Amino acid sequence: MTLTITQTGATLGAIVTGVDLANLNDASWVDIERAFLAYAVLIFPSQNLSEAEQIRFGSRFGRIEQLVADREIVPISNQRADGTLLKDDEHGMQLMRGNEGWHTDSSYMPLAAKASILSAHVVPAAGGQTEWADMRAAYDALDEVTKARIAELSAYHSLYYSQGRIGHQGVVGSSYGFHTDDPPLRPLVKVHPVTGRKSLFIGRHAYGIPGLALEESEKLLEGLVRFACQAPRTYSHAWQPGDVVVWDNRCVLHRARPFDHGEPRVMKHTRVAGERASELAVRSRRIAQ
Ligand SMILES: [Fe+2]
Repeated sequence: MTLTITQTGATLGAIVTGVDLANLNDASWVDIERAFLAYAVLIFPSQNLSEAEQIRFGSRFGRIEQLVADREIVPISNQRADGTLLKDDEHGMQLMRGNEGWHTDSSYMPLAAKASILSAHVVPAAGGQTEWADMRAAYDALDEVTKARIAELSAYHSLYYSQGRIGHQGVVGSSYGFHTDDPPLRPLVKVHPVTGRKSLFIGRHAYGIPGLALEESEKLLEGLVRFACQAPRTYSHAWQPGDVVVWDNRCVLHRARPFDHGEPRVMKHTRVAGERASELAVRSRRIAQ
């Protein structure tokens, strides 16, 4: 088997074939890690990983976040274990609907995520794609006035805020992200801890830029997302069962596309925690000291 990495036509993303992620040797891992840093989204078709294999692959990237107590892999699905489907007003569906807005994972936690892995198990006949947008290329494409304007700005990140915007009232303790900590404050411009590239760190969880009126802050943040998430900086993947994708939350936004909720969609997710030196929010860092 020869590991082959084929770039998408977008500024991010590559399709990786000729590798068995369940039996990854160290030489292939070196190639994959290099490609992850270069392309930020890697798509591995037809891997059909077991849960244990997905967790093991995730562990190559770092420490895994437990989104549910003692679980390193969680379903993202509109189907319960007994096969019945969730109704649109249920908590899990509200979270899935929220995922249809551009975001980066765990930016609302004191420690934001490094990477996310998603695998497809049951896919609907239409829709349900995942899309990614390249925040490195988006930053590079900004005009100099905007770069100067945002250089010193930060925003709070909150899942209460983002879910509230779609009419979902989050309750403390109801699921991951609905915590009692103060919302983390994060710079709008993030320097990648490995590549050193600057990128926009924005998305639906971001709000309330200190020093700006709330409306002005929303207008700026929404304008940045609108500008950033456009061709050639976006890539869309139509899932087939067995596909595995990993992406770099430190420089990529992603969103789910809608699908008919009368059909099951079963995905499994593993999230890799960021590094304290680079993904721990400044305020949280101060509190921790
Ligand atoms: Fe997500």
